[in-house]
Amino acid sequence: MDFRGAHILSVKQFERTDVDRVFQVADAMVPYAHRQRATRALEGAILGNMFFEPSTRTRVSFGCAFNLLGGQVRETTDVKTSSISKGESLYDTARVISGYSDVIVMRHPQTGSVAEFAKASRVPVINGGDGPNEHPSQALLDLYTIKKELQSNDGQIDGMHIAMIGDLKHGRTVHSLSQLLLLYNNITFTLITPAELRMPEAIVSELKQAGHTVIETEDMEAGLNDNDTIYLTRIQEERFTTKLEADIYRGRFRLNQSIYTRYCQPNTVIMHPLPRDSRAEANELDNDLNQHPSLAIFRQTDNGVLVRMALFALILGVAEKVDDSARDVGWYTGGRF
Ligand code: CP
Repeated sequence: MDFRGAHILSVKQFERTDVDRVFQVADAMVPYAHRQRATRALEGAILGNMFFEPSTRTRVSFGCAFNLLGGQVRETTDVKTSSISKGESLYDTARVISGYSDVIVMRHPQTGSVAEFAKASRVPVINGGDGPNEHPSQALLDLYTIKKELQSNDGQIDGMHIAMIGDLKHGRTVHSLSQLLLLYNNITFTLITPAELRMPEAIVSELKQAGHTVIETEDMEAGLNDNDTIYLTRIQEERFTTKLEADIYRGRFRLNQSIYTRYCQPNTVIMHPLPRDSRAEANELDNDLNQHPSLAIFRQTDNGVLVRMALFALILGVAEKVDDSARDVGWYTGGRF
């Protein structure tokens, strides 16, 4: 695909070569994301970061990614503080904000809302999550992380075994990641969910038609065996009618050090899109794994900056120009990377 000026609305728009291109540019962003170098490639450009649903890492990492490329960020953080609360339409909002911005990231609780917004926008729009539907930049950063983690154990994406665990019905990250994996070969998916929260049948069918193996089970202990990666998810309380309904499933599937040691192969990569629900009644991914070398969740969040920088650089046509204005940074950067 031609990234320049493109909306990024769904993983379905990518070919495998497009994913490779994003990953190649993401690799080149490491010195900037790691505060060794600074660039002015997007000096003067403005990101409209439009979030109409709660977010920590997607909103902030998109903003950081844009700042690290030299651009500036203007944002909304919820419906309450935007004129959508006064009845303004997505069409009008898109017409207005696209006059102020060079690119827009948008998150909204309704499926299809970001695509609707993009139709009215005069600048490229990136889907930062539309309800339970899709989260394409998360899928790209998840896959980038899987690739790096498996490579460090001499593994690869083609032929891998992945277990997805939790609320696969409402989790947009697993919807997008599964569909992105349609571009790869011979993957075994073990989908561990309560029967009511199964992955949508349309996605399961697509995976099978593409030649992948799909095992659906409620037996977590059996499902954890024989995976390269396990990808946990939170019960998406905000997609249920009531909190009580979500409570039925909360805490059903949990991973902690003892369960990992007993049932997982050594070196199985542990992933989660975050936020994890750390309340006692949920705790799907226990803090006792925080120091475990296979826990990749914070490498995942760091990789989000690289992948989002790559998307901006490609969409705004500066991927080859980032180094032109580069300089070493002069501030203390610590040892965090
Ligand atoms: N993974 C993710 O989308 O996190 P936030 O909801 O904090 O953006």
